[in-house]
Amino acid sequence: MRSRAQIASHPIHPMLIVLPLGLFLGSWIFDLTGKATNNELLWAASYYCGIAGIVGGFCAAIPGVMDWIGVVPPRSSAKKRGLLHGGLNTLVLIVFIIIAARRSSAIAEPGAFELGLMTLAIATLVISGWLGGTLSYRNQIGVDHRYANAGTWKERSLESWARPACNQSELSEGQMMLVRVADERVVVGRCPEGIIAFSDHCTHKGGPLSDGALVGCTVQCPWHGSQFDVHTGRVVAGPAKNKIDIYTTEIRGGEVYVKPQRDQAPKAA
Ligand code: FES
Repeated sequence: MRSRAQIASHPIHPMLIVLPLGLFLGSWIFDLTGKATNNELLWAASYYCGIAGIVGGFCAAIPGVMDWIGVVPPRSSAKKRGLLHGGLNTLVLIVFIIIAARRSSAIAEPGAFELGLMTLAIATLVISGWLGGTLSYRNQIGVDHRYANAGTWKERSLESWARPACNQSELSEGQMMLVRVADERVVVGRCPEGIIAFSDHCTHKGGPLSDGALVGCTVQCPWHGSQFDVHTGRVVAGPAKNKIDIYTTEIRGGEVYVKPQRDQAPKAA
């Protein structure tokens, strides 16, 4: 799902994480080698790397938080993973702030406490990087989805159900768009039988169906491949066990309007 904080479709968060990652690792290595060789210049290098890493960490956190809030699907396994990823990174930042604050000067010799804490922080950074990798490569957060011969990704926010989601000419067959109405995420797409609308929330682990593939009248989740019938919501193939919510579509003057089905109460005005 396309990143909120991006430059020409390139997510900013992965560009910036190299700063704290490299600088914190450098700080740790400088301190270890400085300790082994009793070299105060290496301790100073470690100190300044740590300070620069803290600044880099704050810079990387901003686009990361923006993507966690605006891109990672709500009520999904990726939301929890992202929270853990951010929490661990915050912990690492706090550790390096404490270490910098404890040093009386740049050339002060690091004690066993600082070195131990720093080693723990680097180990935490590795675990957090692992989670970040899962968010990028398995949950596809930040991936800019394109449709072959059917245009680029479309996304829209509506003030209420009374507003049109799109013009029917905007969607080619097999193309989907994400429509946000308050806290509901609805996918509007075109299958061979016309315009359809269904919930973006995969009932397995909350994957974004709008980021999947619409083939014929079946949508496939991008995370673990569950398939759903877009007319009835029933599961065509697991691992999902429960059907997805289907929305009613209406076309007036070429504009597509969506609303929850009668047995499905709207969560938004
Ligand atoms: S989240 Fe697992 S198949 Fe959709």
